[in-house]
Amino acid sequence: MNRPLNWPDIKWPDAHLKDTLTFLRAITSDPSQVGAIAPSGPALARLITSEIGRHSGPIIELGPGTGVFTQALLDQGVRERDLTLVETSPEFARLLRERFPAANVLQMDARHLHRRNLFPQNSIGAVVSGLPLLNLSPPRVLALLRGAFRCMQPGGAFYQFTYGPLCPVPKSCLDRLNLQSTCLGRALVNIPPASVYRITQTA
Ligand SMILES: C[S@@+](CC[C@H](N)C(=O)[O-])C[C@H]1O[C@@H](n2cnc3c(N)ncnc32)[C@H](O)[C@@H]1O
Repeated sequence: MNRPLNWPDIKWPDAHLKDTLTFLRAITSDPSQVGAIAPSGPALARLITSEIGRHSGPIIELGPGTGVFTQALLDQGVRERDLTLVETSPEFARLLRERFPAANVLQMDARHLHRRNLFPQNSIGAVVSGLPLLNLSPPRVLALLRGAFRCMQPGGAFYQFTYGPLCPVPKSCLDRLNLQSTCLGRALVNIPPASVYRITQTA
């Protein structure tokens, strides 16, 4: 007699299908938190990680989801043990721990990073963010960036992608924290196409 098919019984044809299904489940349960219809594609992952390498030292990734940018960081030579992955969804966090066992996976809200004093001042080389910033209010974006730059080394950069036509950090937030944003480029082969911004402290 045939027994019913359970999730663990399914032999996934490839990781991509598993990632897409995990993403779809997350969107169904909280669309504004996920803020995307699918995991980012390889062109966007290459663009957002293009200036980062082993020389960058410890890296924080915010909102890694299924780990598309995480894998691109490793492909750029970043050591897995130099990665801290901050993800609020328990399902994504579980998947990230399985996939990147040497990385430090923190299942928490990235907006609370500064409250926990997790990283010493000037210890982080770069922050890569997949957070849906357009869904956050300006005070929340301000708190997030303040926390990120507090632990960043001088010259460190915050990399953010967006589907919108402008930098997703409001100018008022940039000015308040003495930050500037530069568009690194656009990944057209992505669903939907997206731009990447580098945010740094003004000299
Ligand atoms: C647009 S998806 C990007 C996922 C992945 N970086 C990619 O490009 O495929 C946003 C991710 O941010 C996570 N996220 C949203 N708000 C968050 C928060 N406040 N703290 C940590 N993670 C958050 C979501 O769970 C999701 O994994």
